[in-house]
This record gives sequence, structure tokens and C-alpha cells, in this order.
Amino acid sequence: MAKKNTTEFVCQNCGAVYPKWQGKCDSCNEWNTIEEQQTQTAGFSVLNSRKKGSLIDFVPLSGSQQTFRRIKTGISEIDRVTGGGLVPGSAILVGGDPGIGKSTLLLQVCAGVSKLAPEDKCYYISGEEAIDQVRIRAKRLGLEDSPVKLASTTEVKDIVATLEKADSAVVIIDSIQTMYLEDVESTPGSVAQVRAAAYELIKLAKRKGFVLFMVGHVTKQGTIAGPRVLEHMVDTVLYFEGERGHHFRILRAVKNRYGATDEIGVFEMQDKGLVEVENPSALFLAERQGNVSGSCVFAGIEGSRPVLMEIQALVSSSGYSGAKRAVVGWDSNRLSMILAVLEARCGLNLSAQDVYLNIAGGLKISEPAADLAVAMAVISSLTNKPLPSDMVVFGEIGLSGEVRAVTQPGLRLKEAQKLGFTNAIVPPSFGKDKKTGTLKEVEIGNVHRLVNWFN
Ligand code: TYD
Ligand code: MG
Repeated sequence: MAKKNTTEFVCQNCGAVYPKWQGKCDSCNEWNTIEEQQTQTAGFSVLNSRKKGSLIDFVPLSGSQQTFRRIKTGISEIDRVTGGGLVPGSAILVGGDPGIGKSTLLLQVCAGVSKLAPEDKCYYISGEEAIDQVRIRAKRLGLEDSPVKLASTTEVKDIVATLEKADSAVVIIDSIQTMYLEDVESTPGSVAQVRAAAYELIKLAKRKGFVLFMVGHVTKQGTIAGPRVLEHMVDTVLYFEGERGHHFRILRAVKNRYGATDEIGVFEMQDKGLVEVENPSALFLAERQGNVSGSCVFAGIEGSRPVLMEIQALVSSSGYSGAKRAVVGWDSNRLSMILAVLEARCGLNLSAQDVYLNIAGGLKISEPAADLAVAMAVISSLTNKPLPSDMVVFGEIGLSGEVRAVTQPGLRLKEAQKLGFTNAIVPPSFGKDKKTGTLKEVEIGNVHRLVNWFN
């Protein structure tokens, strides 16, 4: 049967297909991302094409596997987030707001690798800054003597030609949005350019076996600018986050083909660059004020690590305007749910109250295990009764008000004990395996018991 070519219009950002061109993609709300593409439909089959495919060899699931060599960076927080070191031939996308410290971090990675293994050559290619600017940063970090090879260019063709000949172990592209391929007819930073440049670089990294780091800018919505497919193309996606006004930064793995996701690395931005934070709980609790209402310490788990943090709530009367709810660092839908449960199951009246919730220090958390701590912070603010400052809380709350078990209670309690906490409020099914020494645990099975607790 004859091949029949038709055209369709495909969004380069999310892949949605339209029969006609339109300016805005209805599915991802991006503008000017829809491009015309040829498709071969009815009657076309690869079996009829002139060049025949070759047969694939299938193998059993068992068999010897290749063990990955890991390149250590000497920065333990990065080694942990990447799953034990950098895997040669892998591509890592690092996203984050401007000025958060991505360039600083990656320069420190280069210097770290060069120091541990001088035979592993590191290349730092900046498309954003001139050589002098990077040198000033290196000097500030005290890394000017590190054998990192530095270049400032945006031409992907030149980069590929150079790296093809070079013997590199780690290559940094800062940033992928500045890279340019002259064969692609659109401006640098456009979806088509970003995708084509990333494709060329990743292909080269796989073939030559170097670790490719690409810095990606973040849009207002907090995702990496350019095509979503960029995240699918790479092996690892790391987000570097933090609040402007705070000095600590969190490196979070959201995708990792060579390790666990949701692992975090904590850093502090100092005058001489990023410094690893070995005890994040102590840092997050450092500015806690004793004896104030609305503050509750939550024993959370981030990746493989327990992290204690302060949850702050402020409940105040809304006056004549509608009740406001504002959340920083947690899911606002989850807060609405907790407030609804507290109203329905504990008889609290929150509908005429503004409720503000803040995870102190600018940390972002997503664990439902924080529910109970949030509920206690809200009740503490509402009743204006401070919670004991040596108490930690964790537990998930269900719609009928029941408090549910969460993962790794032992690890949470151990961390709390290490930091000198003496009381804990925990879900009931924690029951049997409590072996936490001096910590006094109180089990709460339902939120209606919380209110008595405050009397
Ligand atoms: P940078 O790495 O340039 O951020 P990005 O590449 O993510 O845009 O870091 C910029 C900020 O970090 C800048 O505001 C200054 C600050 N900084 C320090 O506080 N200490 C340092 O040692 C360095 C190099 C930067
Ligand atoms: Mg930068």
C-alpha cells in the first residue's frame, strides 16, 4: 500500500497533538510551542520498508551485570544525592532559581573530583559568564589552583568537536538554555534549540563515557524551562532549592536512574562557597524560640535521613473578610483537609479564622506524616497554649480523624533523642517495637484526643 503523508501540529513542550496550528497549547498553556510535523499514517508499516530490521537477541533476567564505577566528588552530600557518586556516561540536569548557587556548586564539584582523582579531567563550559567572572568565583572559593579546564562558549558544534577528542571525566554545561546549534532554526533558549543541544551532548556523553552536568533554568512555575522532555532525556534530575533570605540550600533528587529519589543534600552558602551541613536538624531548629504558641517540632524523613523541623501556625480572627489560608513549604490542600478534620471531629471553629502555616527556615516538605504536627501547631495557636519545647510529633491524619502509622518511626525517634528531645507524640500502631531508651512516647489514636491534651 502506498505511504500516505499527513501533517499534524505537535506541542514541543508537552507533546500534545492538534489537527490545526494554534498559538497556545491548551494542555500545558505554553505559547508558540506548536510546530508542524509530518506523520505517516494509514497503510504504512515498517515491514514494507526497503531496509529490513535485524533480529533482537533475548537474554534471561539472571546473568552477570555491569557494576557502575562511581566517580566520587569528595562532597558527601552530593555523593549521597547521586546515589553514591557520579556514574560515567550519565547525564544530570541541575535546576534551580537564578542566583541560588548552581554555578558555585558545580565548580566545587569539578574541583572536588580533580582533587580526589587528578586523572579524571573536568571541563567547565560556561555560556552565561565570561572567563573572568568564573575566575573571580574560583578565587573567592579558593579553588583557582584546581586543574579544571575552563571555556566560555555557546556553540554546541565546537563543544562536541572538542570533547570528541578530549579525555574528559566530568563536563559541566552552564546553562543548557544558552547553548546554540546553528542547524536548528530558532533562537537560543527556544524549545527546539534546548532539545537539540541536549540531545547532541547526551549522545556524546554516552559514547565517550563522561558525566554530563547541564544547568537548567527554572520557570515561574518552578519547573525546568524548555521542553519537559529534557527531564525524560537525562538520567538524573536534581533541583537546587532554598529561600533567598536564608543561607541554606537543599539539593533534591527528583529522578535518578542510579539511586534513590527524594534524597536530599543540605548545604550552607557561606562567603567561601557552599559548605555541607552534617546535622540538618540542628540547623533547622537553630532559630526556634521557646515557649511560644503555634510552634511544633515535626520529626520528618527526607530521603534516607531523619530531619527535625519546626512547623509554625498562626490562627487569627478574619474580621469581616473571608477566612484566609496561606501555606509556605507544605501542600495547601493538605492544610485545608486537616482544618476540615479538626472542625468536624474536634468541634473547633476555624471557619472565621485566618490560618497561616510555615515550615520554618524555608524547607519544603511533602510528607503526610507532618499532619499531626500541623494539627497540633494549629490548635496550639488557636488556644494560645505553647507546646513543650522538648517534644516531637509525627503521624498521618485520616478523614475520620484517626491517626495513622507512618514509615520509619524508630529512625525519627532516634534523631529526636540525639537532639535532646524527651517527649514524643506518635501514632498508636507504633506499639511493640519501641526501643528508644529515654524518650517518653504518648500514642494518640484519634485527633479528638488532641483537644483534651491542651486542657
Ligand atoms: P551562583 O552560583 O552564581 O548562582 P546560579 O548559578 O544558581 O545563578 O551563586 C550566586 C550567589 O551566591 C550570589 O548571590 C553570591 C552567592 N555566593 C556566596 O554567598 N558565596 C560564595 O562563595 C559564592 C561564590 C557566591
Ligand atoms: Mg550560574
